[in-house]
Amino acid sequence: MRGRVRTALVTGASSGIGLELCRLLARDGARVVMVARDEERLQRAARWIRTEHPGAGLTILAADLSAEGAVASLVSRLEREVDPIDFLANNAGVGASGPFASSGLAEVSDLIRLNVSNLVELTHRLLPGLLERRRGIILNVASTAAFLPGPLMAVYYASKAFVLSFSEALAEELQGSGVSVTALCPGPTLTGFQKRAGIEQTRLLRGPLALAAAPVAAAAYQGALDGRRIVIPGVANKAMVQALRALPRAFVRQMARRANDVAPIEGPPSGGEGGTA
Ligand SMILES: NC(=O)c1ccc[n+]([C@@H]2O[C@H](COP(=O)([O-])OP(=O)(O)OC[C@H]3O[C@@H](n4cnc5c(N)ncnc54)[C@H](OP(=O)(O)O)[C@@H]3O)[C@@H](O)[C@H]2O)c1
Repeated sequence: MRGRVRTALVTGASSGIGLELCRLLARDGARVVMVARDEERLQRAARWIRTEHPGAGLTILAADLSAEGAVASLVSRLEREVDPIDFLANNAGVGASGPFASSGLAEVSDLIRLNVSNLVELTHRLLPGLLERRRGIILNVASTAAFLPGPLMAVYYASKAFVLSFSEALAEELQGSGVSVTALCPGPTLTGFQKRAGIEQTRLLRGPLALAAAPVAAAAYQGALDGRRIVIPGVANKAMVQALRALPRAFVRQMARRANDVAPIEGPPSGGEGGTA
């Protein structure tokens, strides 16, 4: 695996799946450009990677990829500061939970810009270079949520359906060009994502579908190097996606709604009458 990737760009590199991807790339000797908003957290992540891989070539570029114009300025910094990218991991993404009718329009727009519009723009801006060099790997992080509608997380699920559809179509268009496109579709993964999305209470995280970030990133990295079109980490998640294809759509919608219902988990009372001390 060493030397396959020369220079990688990973968005959402400071935690979760993105950070695990950076570790794998650094292990294999790639230079890694790490992008996220919080520069201090990126520095901490880079220091941690360097304790494992002391010679790792890591560049930190702080950017808010939910902002308009963010991709254009990121790409001009890349052109000034680093070698041409040959591995692009469009990983940064956020979720949002709750009924669509009561969600804030600003939050919805930011989610769509980060998960969809800026992913497309970054791909569009870097693709000509990859095609010119006839060498490149694009890894787009979708989700198993891409395979079904998600009541109570409607915009998030729809954003991931976009990423999956876009990635598969682009992979087909680029066949024979030297550039491959892989859509990663993880199931519930134990990262900071759930807390940020307000779904840390979701039932899915307590079931057999949940995986740690490291095996998800390992499956994604290997799948991308192998040029696979879709990677679904974990046997249970693969089986669930198969089942979704066979089940009636109305049942699937209701099942997703129940899974996304983040009512607090029932447990012993934390105090008050009858509580034990
Ligand atoms: N965890 C799951 O259950 C799960 C399941 C399926 C798919 N996914 C997808 O996997 C991807 C990675 O998620 P994760 O679980 O690893 O989440 P995570 O641990 O919360 O990491 C998210 C990363 O994205 C960065 N980020 C967030 N907003 C950003 C913005 N506006 N601009 C630039 N960077 C931003 C974060 O850093 P800053 O906050 O510093 O910017 C962080 O580095 C996402 O696309 C997510 O939708 C996750």
